[in-house]
Amino acid sequence: MNLASVIKSESELLLPTYDRQKVLFTRGHDVYLWDSRGKKYLDFLSGLGVNALGHGHPAIQRVLKKQAAKLIHVSNLFFHEYQSELAKKLVKVSGLDRAFFCNSGTEAWEGALKLARAFARVSNSNGHKAKWRILALENSFHGRTFGSLATTGQAKYRHPFAPMLPGVSFVGFNDVADLKRQFDGSVCAVCMETIQGEGGINPVSPEFLQTARELTDKTGALLILDEIQCGLGRTGRWFAYEHYGLKPDIVTVAKPLAAGLPLGAILTTNRVASGMHPGMHGTTFGGGPLATAVAIEFLNQVGGLLKHVNETGDYFRGQLESLAAKHSAIREIRGLGLMLCLDIDSPDVAKAAVQYLLDRGILINRTHDTVLRFLPPYIIQKKHVDQVVRALDAALSAASKPAAVGASKTGKRNKN
Ligand SMILES: Cc1ncc(COP(=O)(O)O)c(C=O)c1O
Repeated sequence: MNLASVIKSESELLLPTYDRQKVLFTRGHDVYLWDSRGKKYLDFLSGLGVNALGHGHPAIQRVLKKQAAKLIHVSNLFFHEYQSELAKKLVKVSGLDRAFFCNSGTEAWEGALKLARAFARVSNSNGHKAKWRILALENSFHGRTFGSLATTGQAKYRHPFAPMLPGVSFVGFNDVADLKRQFDGSVCAVCMETIQGEGGINPVSPEFLQTARELTDKTGALLILDEIQCGLGRTGRWFAYEHYGLKPDIVTVAKPLAAGLPLGAILTTNRVASGMHPGMHGTTFGGGPLATAVAIEFLNQVGGLLKHVNETGDYFRGQLESLAAKHSAIREIRGLGLMLCLDIDSPDVAKAAVQYLLDRGILINRTHDTVLRFLPPYIIQKKHVDQVVRALDAALSAASKPAAVGASKTGKRNKN
């Protein structure tokens, strides 16, 4: 199959949910991908934050092959060797007590919301005021299923599917006064991404997160953090909340957890877990032997990479700052570790820059029209950063010449 025939048959056979770039990938190795014509690409997006160890990592391949030959699936009616081993590792690095395994980010988030409501019910049963409201943040993104959509603070994602889950209110991003105004004894959870990803790489402010922790502590409501994009080493620490010196009651992770296989997890405390009993929640595939065996190896590898993520992230940020000093089109650099972005003052220039890099064999993406997002594999080297920064420099120089900007004004391509 070539690109043209795949495009044609997908257009006839698939639901029209994606506006894909016209590239057919056939192979990956290390930080590179190759398309059907043999063109090589430097991957600075890592499958939207999934391929944190790059492609074809030898340790992942080894575990994958061994486990695939041994046992792929048994269902959650029975035990297998790896769920508790993986939970033990996640509990250790998160400072929480327990895990539940599922298949994706949105499923982890759904489970976290259910856990919050279930815990509120249990803690209400001894005479406390009913807690059921959920406070989420404007501009957030938590996934595509109904609970996740209901807590996603962007109308464009929710509106086509209204009505939503009742009981959710949105607080202005980093608006401490608004959080205090909307919070009361009816709130069962305040939830947010520690660093908004799809919303344009926006770290929550220390003051806002600290206020959320204090308010929830006072009433027994829960603080739930979505670290599906920013967690598991992406910011140079195991979890982004470590940069803030506090701990949530629930954290969700997914994307890179099983190095490309679908796996998500909810991590929580013993106290919150007391709201659940057998039969209340479950999944057929979640936490199967193949994905969990691979995830154990992923965590082993990440343990040795955190220092590298910090150093490479600092270097990358430094290079982006030099670029910003040269190009007035760069409004802001945001992010932590290897979750970084350039906010550009024009959607057209941002769009042209993504295309310029793609043409030259570099993958990045654009979110919220003006944000160039970088989620490279943790294993990138300074030479890869240099290659990307050189290309961005050329792209922004080319785009500042009026004739070179051919992109349309809107052309939304927001992807999580
Ligand atoms: C912060 C965050 N939460 C949730 C999700 C949903 O994850 P998934 O696409 O695996 O359902 C995403 C996906 O991009 C995300 O970035």
